[in-house]
Amino acid sequence: MHSYSLTAPAKINLYLEILGDRSDGYHELVMILQSIELADQIDIRSLSTDDIRVSCNHPQVPQDETNLAYKAAKLMTERFPDVFAQFGGVEITINKQIPVAAGLAGGSTDAAAVLVGIDMMWQLGLTHPELQELAQQLGSDVPFCIAGGTALATGRGEQLSPLPDLDSLYVVLGKYRSIAVSTPWAYKSYRSEFGDSYIRKTEDLESRAAQVHSGPMVKAIANKDGSEIGQLLHNDLEKVVLPAYPQVSQLRDTFQNSGALGVMMSGSGPTVFALCESQAQAQEIEQQIRSKIPDPDLDFWVTKFCSTGIRII
Ligand code: C5P
Repeated sequence: MHSYSLTAPAKINLYLEILGDRSDGYHELVMILQSIELADQIDIRSLSTDDIRVSCNHPQVPQDETNLAYKAAKLMTERFPDVFAQFGGVEITINKQIPVAAGLAGGSTDAAAVLVGIDMMWQLGLTHPELQELAQQLGSDVPFCIAGGTALATGRGEQLSPLPDLDSLYVVLGKYRSIAVSTPWAYKSYRSEFGDSYIRKTEDLESRAAQVHSGPMVKAIANKDGSEIGQLLHNDLEKVVLPAYPQVSQLRDTFQNSGALGVMMSGSGPTVFALCESQAQAQEIEQQIRSKIPDPDLDFWVTKFCSTGIRII
């Protein structure tokens, strides 16, 4: 086949702890990542020329070589030049449903879909580790986005251990349309404020990651205990993002009093999510927050946890 359509789900962070610095300039993290049903659709097809073309229905998404989906296709053409010569260029159409610069890995999941789609279209038969190796060159969240589900991520975020599926929980996401948070800014601010407490020794980093792996959040996930998971949500980046964005902080406080199982900012924000045990509860909380903060700039999504990453439609 010379064209494929793929579903590329967003993710939220149920847990994000910053452990220390890395020699490559990134941070050592321990995260628990969760795919959600809110997803972009990616269509890819072969071109008779050797171009890579990206188009997207969202005005904030770049359609040039700075788009991570473009970079994913470029990486494939460089890695497999003979197959590229045989099949020609790639046209990528992104139907964007995931909010942009929101802490939901929207760009990363599109890039993951392009890797999976080109692998299929060019009949490369790449193994999961081969796809993961390509994915980590594009960004820290791209490897997770390929298989998705629920996973513990360490290192830069690219070392993944799958956790039991949690696909019965719902979330309400809230995001101000006009607020975008820069991820590099969030990590840089965290380093300048909290860098003194970073763990320096490799064995101490490993032992902290192992503690999280055998700790209460992973146990709550194994028990599918939504209330416990809600209590244990954690994100270190809230410490720098919330003080800098008072509206996000206020949104979080309003969610906190809504009766949800738990509330947290996802990734570097500014999306805040409320964990819910049912779709009915999620819809009720969405209505509650809409009436408490009647701001036309504030968007909401009700969506469910999902147990898969990139899917071919
Ligand atoms: O890997 P990715 O391009 O998604 O990361 C975006 C930015 O987030 C990086 O440029 C870096 O500033 C920060 N980051 C970090 N440590 C990580 C992941 C991301 O400092 N483990």
